[in-house]
Amino acid sequence: MAIATISDLRPLAKRRLPRFVFDYLDGGAGDEKGLERNLLAFDEILLKPRMLVDVEERDFSTTLMGRKWSLPFGSAPIGFCNLMCPGGEKAVARAAKEANIPCILSTSGTTSMEKYREYAPQHAWYQLYVSRVPEIADDLVKRADASGYETLVVTVDIPVAARRARDIRNNFSVALKVTPKFVWELVSHPGWSLETLKAGIPRFENMERYTKLTGAKPVAGFVSSQISGRFNWDELKKLRDRWKRKLVVKGLLSAEDSVKARDLGCDAVVISNHGGRQLESLPAPIDVIGEIRAAVGPNYPLILDSGIRSGEHILKALAAGADFVLIGRAMMFGISALGPQGAKFVIDMLRDEMSRAAAQIGYTDIASLKAAAPIIRRGK
Ligand SMILES: Cc1cc2nc3c(=O)[nH]c(=O)nc-3n(C[C@H](O)[C@H](O)[C@H](O)COP(=O)(O)O)c2cc1C
Repeated sequence: MAIATISDLRPLAKRRLPRFVFDYLDGGAGDEKGLERNLLAFDEILLKPRMLVDVEERDFSTTLMGRKWSLPFGSAPIGFCNLMCPGGEKAVARAAKEANIPCILSTSGTTSMEKYREYAPQHAWYQLYVSRVPEIADDLVKRADASGYETLVVTVDIPVAARRARDIRNNFSVALKVTPKFVWELVSHPGWSLETLKAGIPRFENMERYTKLTGAKPVAGFVSSQISGRFNWDELKKLRDRWKRKLVVKGLLSAEDSVKARDLGCDAVVISNHGGRQLESLPAPIDVIGEIRAAVGPNYPLILDSGIRSGEHILKALAAGADFVLIGRAMMFGISALGPQGAKFVIDMLRDEMSRAAAQIGYTDIASLKAAAPIIRRGK
């Protein structure tokens, strides 16, 4: 059957991936009500159409942080990305370059930042987790600088590791544990297992050099051990002073924090609840973006993620106050289901959905959509 929506990709990803991998990708914190809310919140917002507008010519390019992008979305940073699809990071970076959109490599990614930037020199951003050991964070920043990254994204919403029920039930941690169930999952998903074996078990290529430990499991344990709850506003200020190019803070959800980040000189913030993966009771970003926009003013760059699964969702986020969005699982479902070609597939699908939906409501570009803010909150 032909794939018509991003939602169609999810069951295909589920079929292709061993359960512990799919659950790592798909799961959220606690009973996953926050994850559900991220999606439901988009259903509570409707698009208000205006008719009799010439919509034949449409252009959804936009400028973010002084740079023109062909579309108002980019690919979010994903830890352990190549576990979902061998060669996944490379495929996403190449597809992003071709589409002229940004793609973000995670500190917990499985491609070294030096290599990743070569795949998409003008489009790759680097996402930093500030490690428990200060020298590691210092060196990661130094390497990002030396590699020529234009944009550093510092993620601040992981002061502690989350309790993700599915991962706990599956006995899954980034340090993979070999149990009979684990082996059964590999055997019953031969496509994924053979490809992963052929490509080599994904490695934490950014972090592995900072430990003397060797082997997938000990290195993964080391990466988890670097999660730190110490990073604070003073540390962010130091990072701002040190990093001379674009600095983005990812993982804020309040007007107060966003204003603080703006005043500290950060170039943009990502309003995000980490895709519902850290805490169940956080608001959906789409529900708070309006008040954050009102607080930071009309010109401060706001990026939104968590729950984007369609072109209509992208339009809603922009109309509600975001300038740009990131897609996390949508992209990952694509490459998990279809392999490396899934990256282009997802970008093309979102572009097409967004363009048709905009035409349907009478808009041909982002500036006019944002100016009119054509959304209706259901029941209001
Ligand atoms: C499997 C997975 C791994 C992730 N790893 C990271 C990470 O390493 N760094 C980070 O800043 N965010 C990470 N995120 C969060 C995403 O960057 C993004 O905020 C989130 O996926 C957006 O929600 P969505 O999946 O509903 O689009 C991860 C998300 C997923 C699903």
